[in-house]
Amino acid sequence: MARTPVIGGNWKMNTTRVEAQALLRDLRTRLDALAGVEVVVCPPAAWLGDAADVLGGSSIEVGAQNVYWEPKGAFTGEVSAPMLVGTATQVIIGHSERRHVFGETDEATNRKLRAVLEAGLHPILAIGELREEAEGGQTEAVLRRQITGAFEGFDALPGDLVVAYEPVWAIGTGLAATAEDAQERCAMVRRILTERFDASSADACRIQYGGSVNAGNAAGFAAGADIDGVLVGGASLDGAAFEAICRAFVA
Ligand code: 13P
Repeated sequence: MARTPVIGGNWKMNTTRVEAQALLRDLRTRLDALAGVEVVVCPPAAWLGDAADVLGGSSIEVGAQNVYWEPKGAFTGEVSAPMLVGTATQVIIGHSERRHVFGETDEATNRKLRAVLEAGLHPILAIGELREEAEGGQTEAVLRRQITGAFEGFDALPGDLVVAYEPVWAIGTGLAATAEDAQERCAMVRRILTERFDASSADACRIQYGGSVNAGNAAGFAAGADIDGVLVGGASLDGAAFEAICRAFVA
């Protein structure tokens, strides 16, 4: 199954508006019409409109970093999936910082997933184990629990969904997984998806690795048969580094 690699840039809570506009323009210059990969830029919610303006008409897609599951109402500070329509096409759901800093549960992830799909947007579902879970041999059980929880009540694996495998111990630490370990874990995710759904939809699903990806280690991840792209944090704030990462996935 040929899967087009998808490279995501998760800016997290970084950039002033002026910095964001400059980075968006830089990324457009570097990456517009880059063939063979899909590129998704996920700026803070405050700059999604700027991203849609600067990247409009380019091949670069805009993603949101989070969403609330209700469509509208008295939920001060939240942004709904229908509100993202027209600016973003993708939404990261279940990022480890949402889970571990903001206490989001698998049930919340499930609700967000449903809301995103209902709005016609494409989810990037992030999963991954903590260091102590990895050290305790719990990785597979944790990934299975997160996948089962996220897809509670689903009859089929949504076609345009990307799974981002991001071991929490590798995020923002500079300690990326080895290419071999990342490949092994992404294959594990695909196996769990096969068991939960079926082989053909799991085979078609794109699975990213995330966690301290940079211009130097991206090619190693690109070589993994089950690694269909990366979700990049810190290095996505540097136009040249993000360009190099994207180019590492061009066949
Ligand atoms: P870093 O690339 O900064 O480790 O962050 C990874 C991440 O959390 C992307 O979502």
